[in-house]
Amino acid sequence: MKFPLDLILESLKNALDQKFGQDIPFSPIVEPCSNPSFGDFQSNIAFVIAQALKENPRKLALELANAMGESSVIFHPEVGGNGFLNFKVKPNAYLKAFLAMRSDPRLGIEQTKEPQTIVLDFSSPNIAKQLHVGHLRSTILGDVLRRLNLFLGHRVISDNHLGDWGTQFGMVILGYKKYGNESDLLTRPLEYLEELYVKIQKESIESGQLREEAKKELQKLQSGDAENTRLWANFVNASLGELDKIYKRLNVKFDFSLGESFYNPMLGQIVEELLKKGIAQQSEGAVCVFFGKDFPELTDKPMLIRKSDGAFLYATTDIATLLFRIQNWNAQRIIYVTDARQKLHFSQLFALAQILGINVQLEHVYFGSILGEDKKPLKTREGTSIKLRELLEEAENRAYELIEAKRKDLSEEKKREIARAVGVGALKYADLSQNRILDYIFKWEKLLSFDGNTAPYLINAHVRICSILKKASSQGYYSTLGFTSLKFETEELQPQEIELLKTLLSFKYALNLAIEENSPHHLCNYLYSLAKDFHKFYELCPVLGAPTPYIRERRIAFCECTAQTLALGLNLLGIEALQEM
Ligand code: ARG
Repeated sequence: MKFPLDLILESLKNALDQKFGQDIPFSPIVEPCSNPSFGDFQSNIAFVIAQALKENPRKLALELANAMGESSVIFHPEVGGNGFLNFKVKPNAYLKAFLAMRSDPRLGIEQTKEPQTIVLDFSSPNIAKQLHVGHLRSTILGDVLRRLNLFLGHRVISDNHLGDWGTQFGMVILGYKKYGNESDLLTRPLEYLEELYVKIQKESIESGQLREEAKKELQKLQSGDAENTRLWANFVNASLGELDKIYKRLNVKFDFSLGESFYNPMLGQIVEELLKKGIAQQSEGAVCVFFGKDFPELTDKPMLIRKSDGAFLYATTDIATLLFRIQNWNAQRIIYVTDARQKLHFSQLFALAQILGINVQLEHVYFGSILGEDKKPLKTREGTSIKLRELLEEAENRAYELIEAKRKDLSEEKKREIARAVGVGALKYADLSQNRILDYIFKWEKLLSFDGNTAPYLINAHVRICSILKKASSQGYYSTLGFTSLKFETEELQPQEIELLKTLLSFKYALNLAIEENSPHHLCNYLYSLAKDFHKFYELCPVLGAPTPYIRERRIAFCECTAQTLALGLNLLGIEALQEM
């Protein structure tokens, strides 16, 4: 379907063709007006072209406005002082587009015409430790990028690049050999491994000898020692079982979990080949990739890929992983979701890919930290990192208290079910609604509030609309608008109805922005303004008590489409759109 925005863009392109012929190198952008009093949409194209051709932008804008003229979609375009073109959409055009949108289960969002194979690398914790709050962002953000790209029709492969081969295993193996017992490992694996890790780490700070012993255990593991390999495999399995539980609770799915260990057998050959090609060099016994003047920001930052003692590094594994994903999965685009501290690592990896002539779109989607109210990284009162499992439990418990206070009439089971959805949803939404590149401050009160830009507010809006619709149908009212009559021209729309329509029809725009910038907060902001516009509409425009049957039908249709849009939006954010709360 075509939204008013698409139709305006088409008409603007025609006007440009008329003036410049088909081959001008400018493609216009039409976007929502930064100041709504100027109109609904705007374009700066006259400004851009005039600057390039050294012409008067206002004059060019007036010419384009006249060429476009008034149509069934817009009033005659206006030209702002600076040469901006402003467009005001006719209410009927909104209504027409609305009818198309509401009769489409995808709400007018078409699938991409050029599906790509996208590998999404996210969550990727270092295992043998429990997931902590720091893993929340990568897990949730990556999962939403997966949902968004799947919705657009891309082939998405989600891969959990587990850190299952690093130094922590030397510590844990040593700890287990010294103090371990099997029953703890069986009953509470991850917690137990973490205790062993912490214990040995503490002791090794005091004793250099223990550090050496841990290193030896790691070397033994990495050179294939049978006993250490057996222990390692046990620890990995135990960790995976626990991780799965958390991913289930978060409703996050991976197609693969190929950890670092999977690539270990490939690393030696990769380093040799890079040496042979002259891309990597020996340097004081170690092997590094030095970046030349094509990469000015990396000239003094070589990428270490083999240490002088022969050990490989995180970077070496990532080179192997990249090659594997291209060769085996035909990846056309790879998105890595990690915190901002890994920026240098990924710019080195991407630079090396360029040197190797790899023609795949590589992106590092990075994010800031979650801070406590003291503006320092969020910790427990004792100063240790907060476990994700505990955070989830607390979210559900707090949500339960809120539901319990509101809905004493519900069964215990129902209350628990709602609390789970609201608690996890609130936690996810608090993260997703922030611009990912910034740090944010974590406050329980804020994220569970029923007011403001929160999951409970949006879920509540959805629940409210569902109950209006239920009531409507129990009174025998359905919305058949668009199938029986198109007589909307005769009965005027109220300003709140137009506002709601406009917002509904900008869903596609917000979704595109979220996908293009890998930034779900655009979708969150959109859903929040949709819910607010709905409440304004509902306050001033009676639905069941509308003045005429036609207006009632129309307003029921607005309610329905708002509920559908909220549900789809929340779904894409991995949040359950409850019908009852
Ligand atoms: N395990 C790493 C960490 O915890 C993140 C891995 C990200 N993915 C990658 N391909 N490097 O920091």
